[in-house]
Amino acid sequence: MGLSLHMSIVPVIMMVVSLQVWLPLGCVEEERTALLQLKDSLNYPNGTSLPSWRKGDARCCDWERVVCSNSTVRVTELDLYRVRNGELGDWYLNASLFLPFQELISLDLWDNQIAGWVENKGLTSISTLFLYNITSFGSSFQTLLQSLGAFPNLTKLGLGYNDLRGRILGDGFLNLKNLELCDLSYNTLNSSNIFQTIGTMTYLKNLRLQGCSFNGQLPISQGLCDLNHLRELDISSNDLSGFLPPCLANMTSLQQLDISSNYLKIPMSLSPLYNLSKLKSFDGSDNEIYAEEDDHNLSPKFQLEFLYLSSHGQVARAFPKFLYHQFNLQYLDLTNIQIKGEFPNWLMENNTYLQELSLENCSLSGSFLLPRSSHVNLSILRISMNYFQGQIPVEIGAYLPGLQVLLMSDNGFDGSIPSWLDQYTYYDNLSSSQQSFEFTTKNVPLLYRGSTI
Ligand SMILES: *[C@@H]1O[C@H](CO)[C@@H](O)[C@H](O)[C@H]1NC(C)=O
Ligand SMILES: *[C@@H]1O[C@H](CO)[C@@H](O)[C@H](O)[C@H]1NC(C)=O
Ligand SMILES: *[C@@H]1O[C@H](CO)[C@@H](O)[C@H](O)[C@H]1NC(C)=O
Ligand SMILES: *[C@@H]1O[C@H](CO)[C@@H](O)[C@H](O)[C@H]1NC(C)=O
Ligand SMILES: *[C@@H]1O[C@H](CO)[C@@H](O)[C@H](O)[C@H]1NC(C)=O
Ligand SMILES: *[C@@H]1O[C@H](CO)[C@@H](O)[C@H](O)[C@H]1NC(C)=O
Ligand SMILES: *[C@@H]1O[C@H](CO)[C@@H](O)[C@H](O)[C@H]1NC(C)=O
Ligand SMILES: *[C@@H]1O[C@H](CO)[C@@H](O)[C@H](O)[C@H]1NC(C)=O
Ligand SMILES: *[C@@H]1O[C@H](CO)[C@@H](O)[C@H](O)[C@H]1NC(C)=O
Ligand SMILES: *[C@@H]1O[C@H](CO)[C@@H](O)[C@H](O)[C@H]1NC(C)=O
Ligand SMILES: *[C@@H]1O[C@H](CO)[C@@H](O)[C@H](O)[C@H]1NC(C)=O
Ligand SMILES: *[C@@H]1O[C@H](CO)[C@@H](O)[C@H](O)[C@H]1NC(C)=O
Repeated sequence: MGLSLHMSIVPVIMMVVSLQVWLPLGCVEEERTALLQLKDSLNYPNGTSLPSWRKGDARCCDWERVVCSNSTVRVTELDLYRVRNGELGDWYLNASLFLPFQELISLDLWDNQIAGWVENKGLTSISTLFLYNITSFGSSFQTLLQSLGAFPNLTKLGLGYNDLRGRILGDGFLNLKNLELCDLSYNTLNSSNIFQTIGTMTYLKNLRLQGCSFNGQLPISQGLCDLNHLRELDISSNDLSGFLPPCLANMTSLQQLDISSNYLKIPMSLSPLYNLSKLKSFDGSDNEIYAEEDDHNLSPKFQLEFLYLSSHGQVARAFPKFLYHQFNLQYLDLTNIQIKGEFPNWLMENNTYLQELSLENCSLSGSFLLPRSSHVNLSILRISMNYFQGQIPVEIGAYLPGLQVLLMSDNGFDGSIPSWLDQYTYYDNLSSSQQSFEFTTKNVPLLYRGSTI
């Protein structure tokens, strides 16, 4: 009995397996035709884009930039980033060409010189819409934005690099209550208007407002801090000034915060961020970093992996206390902050994942100390322009075996270069004033003060 049951199941299993193997990865004919129409429309008159989209080929799910659902074999994603040859001039996209794609959820049209929409139907089921750098849009683009509310399922919207100049985002934008990702970078926006609108998008997880010409204080009264689902906030490269608002402490879901390249006053202690227990990455570089008495009773709830605070000439007096409590750092950059301490070999000892440590021009002195045990993950170490003295330790190769770039010019090192560094290309032409030591493993371009030689 048990045996016969067993026997009858085996062929069924084999059939299922063979079906999976032999079913052609074809695609829906209606969608294949539409893809070819789309190709014609963006190649018109003489383009050469999308060579794998061929008339004789039935397997359109295998075509480049096309993703299909495994179960329904319908197109779910189209990545048309830069597919159109710029020499062909403006593209008036016929949005009705997308009507056959009933399960299309992601469409990227970045950088195709779309100048307008001939018809504006066909994208209602879409949940991801990337319309970056549609530089020469006409009134029909305005119409598209007005009708954004007609995309009820939109969760990811990218409208960066469009020179929108604040005229965007009519009532349609207000209806996008389900938005999780919103990228409006590199448009000139009015911060009070935009945060009023965005403050109502309670599901927002990623907000990118880089280079939007915001100025003045961080617009907290308009609801920025109410976005407590936000995981990523990028407001870098604006003209914001003033102190970090205390209400930042309420944005407890934040994992990545980028406020670099503004005129903000950021305490070296990072105390306004201590309650952000999920914060992994903070970029505060190119702002006004200032020294602040560390409050001994407070310690951060975060463990950072990426920390960038490089600046132009601020005085911090000492390494901030919170740094002693970090053990997950991978990248740390404190370039140009006057710290006036010794070489922080404890940073390497505490942070075994540390890959890149930049302490150029930090007024550090004393000897160059190696970690007490070998640190395999450190690959880039920049300590130029300090007051280090003494010998370069001969054991450097044994203790930092993964080192690829070592910048240590403009210090007071004396003695000879350890023979271990013979395996490196050695540059001594970078400074005329002082002796100079710049090393990089052969075949690795030397990263020197932010530029590649
Ligand atoms: C397209 O190709 C045709 C025939 O090869 C040619 O006559 C025409 O000038 C080309 N047009 C452009 C815009 O290159
Ligand atoms: C669909 O199948 C491919 C290839 O087998 C696989 O890589 C992909 O993860 C699958 N996608 C989904 C959504 O299951
Ligand atoms: C847009 O495409 C649809 C579907 O292919 C077609 O019926 C319609 O005529 C096109 N509209 C224009 C203005 O080309
Ligand atoms: C929006 O998504 C829901 C759930 O996935 C789906 O049932 C509905 O048909 C979609 N709406 C449109 C207009 O595609
Ligand atoms: C935007 O498009 C123009 C040409 O259409 C191109 O030159 C420029 O590099 C693009 N900018 C970005 C940021 O993609
Ligand atoms: C921004 O919008 C607010 C409120 O609508 C308005 O008072 C202010 O003048 C605008 N600012 C600029 C620079 O347009
Ligand atoms: C954090 O949010 C709560 C509730 O919305 C509010 O009462 C409190 O004042 C906020 N904290 C700060 C520092 O703004
Ligand atoms: C940080 O959280 C603690 C307890 O979770 C709370 O007592 C404190 O007020 C918070 N700090 C700020 C600035 O919100
Ligand atoms: C080094 O830092 C000082 C102050 O911290 C600053 O004034 C100076 O411009 C920096 N030097 C370089 C080469 O950036
Ligand atoms: C980091 O190093 C300092 C100095 O050795 C030590 O006091 C501190 O406890 C260490 N922190 C961690 C998290 O290991
Ligand atoms: C070095 O980094 C890799 C990944 O980047 C990680 O898998 C490995 O554990 C790290 N090694 C140490 C000693 O931390
Ligand atoms: C320094 O020397 C290297 C190797 O000879 C050379 O490639 C590089 O261009 C030089 N850099 C400068 C700034 O002269």
